[in-house]
Amino acid sequence: MSEGHSTYTPKTGIERWFDARLPLPRLVYDSFIAYPVPRNLNYAWTFGGILAIMLASQIITGIVLAMHYAADTTLAFDSVEKIMRDVNSGWLLRYLHATGASFFFMAVYVHIFRGLYYGSYKAPRELLWILGCIIYLLMMATAFMGYVLPWGQMSFWGATVITGFFSAIPLVGEWIQQLLLGGFAVDNPTLNRFFSLHYLLPFMIAGVVILHIWALHVTGQSNPTGIEVKSKTDTVAFTPYATIKDAFGSIVFLFFFAYFVFYIPNFLMAPDNYIVANPLKTPAHIVPEWYFLPFYAILRAITFNIGPINSKLGGVICMFGAIVMLFLVPWLDTSKVRSAVYRPWYKLFFWLFVADAVLLGWLGSQPAEGSYVFMAQMATLFYFAFFLVALPVLGLIETPRRLPNSITEAVLEKNKGGGGHPAGAAASPETKG
Ligand code: HEM
Repeated sequence: MSEGHSTYTPKTGIERWFDARLPLPRLVYDSFIAYPVPRNLNYAWTFGGILAIMLASQIITGIVLAMHYAADTTLAFDSVEKIMRDVNSGWLLRYLHATGASFFFMAVYVHIFRGLYYGSYKAPRELLWILGCIIYLLMMATAFMGYVLPWGQMSFWGATVITGFFSAIPLVGEWIQQLLLGGFAVDNPTLNRFFSLHYLLPFMIAGVVILHIWALHVTGQSNPTGIEVKSKTDTVAFTPYATIKDAFGSIVFLFFFAYFVFYIPNFLMAPDNYIVANPLKTPAHIVPEWYFLPFYAILRAITFNIGPINSKLGGVICMFGAIVMLFLVPWLDTSKVRSAVYRPWYKLFFWLFVADAVLLGWLGSQPAEGSYVFMAQMATLFYFAFFLVALPVLGLIETPRRLPNSITEAVLEKNKGGGGHPAGAAASPETKG
């Protein structure tokens, strides 16, 4: 889509001056004004823009918080309290940043599940997807380190538990653990390096986001039908159509965000983190933030040795394996049809997978004992079966519904009130990956 030649014509003298030297206005015009987007994008496609807003908000609030924060174990907890009480609007900055992290993850989960539902990862968008997975990994590392900074009980014990898992890796595990900690236990060097990296990583995320959007502009956006754009009638200009839709979606999202920030700012935070870190007092339950819970449940589900692999290492392998699955999705899915809209069996498995992820999240918040462990084991099995069995096999055996010939046809049919397509007909070659 973006390979099409530029339609930008500089009108004023300043525009002409810039265009001859650094064609930034041309880039903006081609990428965000005239850029053609499929005419049938739904609100799930507004989450990319929402994520960009959240990333900017996290970076801005984070920079100002860092001006008042002290990365020293004797000062960190009190410096955060000082921000909350003494710094002008400090409470707002902190709540925007802490609750913002949760909303950033909510948006990224919608964005990822949207990709899985509509097969956005399929050729030619594999690299776009992989860049997204890298962003997600960086987000997890950033959030984990940020959580340690207020130096509360959960900060300290969460860091102790998670860094402890690295020691399970054979040969290099202890070395990695000590490198992360800057010593043999979570202490001042740990806090210092986490602060340094927590400041650095968001800028790396921003860099990868630029590559992500660049890749998006090379392939063009997919859409709910999964059929590629074939003619001009299949698209509309980004501005005003997508900008207005993105703005509306973002405002609704920001209303929810504001509700949490102003009315229930501690709803998503662990009360234990308002107690200063105490290495001599282990909290009854060490629970990570909600967005890590499914992976935490998978980590704890492996309570048995698998051959020479002990249970601790098995848990670590499964937890990282769960993330690796995401990277492999473009090659695990064998279907020639992109969108779940035309794949009845995949649609069913997709929703079972969503339910499984929610169940794992809940199990991650429960103590790892009794029937919870068995349920977590079953849910972990389903998690991997979705990627390693359902994705490859369904693509081979499922009969997709008949696809419309083009995006325009799909839109017109829907407007007529038709919408449905009889089952059984072959997939259009346009959607072949
Ligand atoms: C800071 C985080 C991220 C930002 C700012 C971001 C930004 C965007 C934007 C602006 C779009 C175009 C609008 C849209 O389709 O919603 C997009 C599309 C896309 N993103 Fe992301 N993204 C992020 C994270 C991710 C992650 C974690 C993944 C997957 C693991 C991902 C996968 C995709 C894919 C596959 C598309 C193309 C969708 C399509 O055209 O059907 N993104 N992203």
